[in-house]
Amino acid sequence: MVDMLVLDNVNKEYKGTVVVNDLSLNIKKGEVFALLGANGAGKTTTIKMILGLTKASSGKIEIDNAAKIGYSPETPYFPEYLTAMEVMNYYAGVEGDKSKKDKSYLQSLLDMTGLSDTKIKVKNYSKGMIQRLALAQALISDPDILILDEPTAGLDALGRKHNLELLKRLKEQGKTIIINSHILHDIEAVCDRGVIMKKGKVIDTWTKDESSESLEDKFVRLVGEE
Ligand SMILES: Nc1ncnc2c1ncn2[C@@H]1O[C@H](COP(=O)(O)OP(=O)(O)O)[C@@H](O)[C@H]1O
Ligand SMILES: [Mg+2]
Repeated sequence: MVDMLVLDNVNKEYKGTVVVNDLSLNIKKGEVFALLGANGAGKTTTIKMILGLTKASSGKIEIDNAAKIGYSPETPYFPEYLTAMEVMNYYAGVEGDKSKKDKSYLQSLLDMTGLSDTKIKVKNYSKGMIQRLALAQALISDPDILILDEPTAGLDALGRKHNLELLKRLKEQGKTIIINSHILHDIEAVCDRGVIMKKGKVIDTWTKDESSESLEDKFVRLVGEE
């Protein structure tokens, strides 16, 4: 399998405090990979370094140079007075690829994420609807790598199920997906493997079919102990 993303001894410090500590990952094309850990473990910081939104203090990050990346942030923000279609149209413009501004293409992405009614303005959106719009936006470039920071936070059970089905379909299309979540049932349903981080360090790895212990039990056992 082809390497899509490699992190080699990556560190991040904020004012002398190490928040990502010697992180090495090797994510292959088509894998659905989970970054797991309690709040503050360093998951979002890792994603931001991969995206180049913040610079690693040391170490190396290599991304397949043909790969397009789509990103859904932990706390998405969209201008309040736009509709979903207007938001999509705006981001499609940022993309710089004219074919991506096609209305029916953008509508198909909204439909896929379950946001069919595009007349409502963002200011009237529920948290779950914002999350869906963030995912639709992340798909505009038809990315090879999809990076999702807490993609099911704020969704109800139905919304989560819908989202998981969509992620499975995207995996079938061959996309590489990196998910950051603490909803472990969702992770088990869709991810192939992952790492469990604590205070910036990988304390264990997880592989879908590896053990009889549920991910939740493993997580509580490892993250809970001091
Ligand atoms: N811009 C920043 N400046 C200083 N500290 C930060 C900054 N961003 C994150 N941190 C700290 O880094 C640690 C890891 O944060 P984060 O990566 O957001 O964790 P997670 O996503 O796993 O909850 C936390 O202790 C957080 O307070
Ligand atoms: Mg986070």
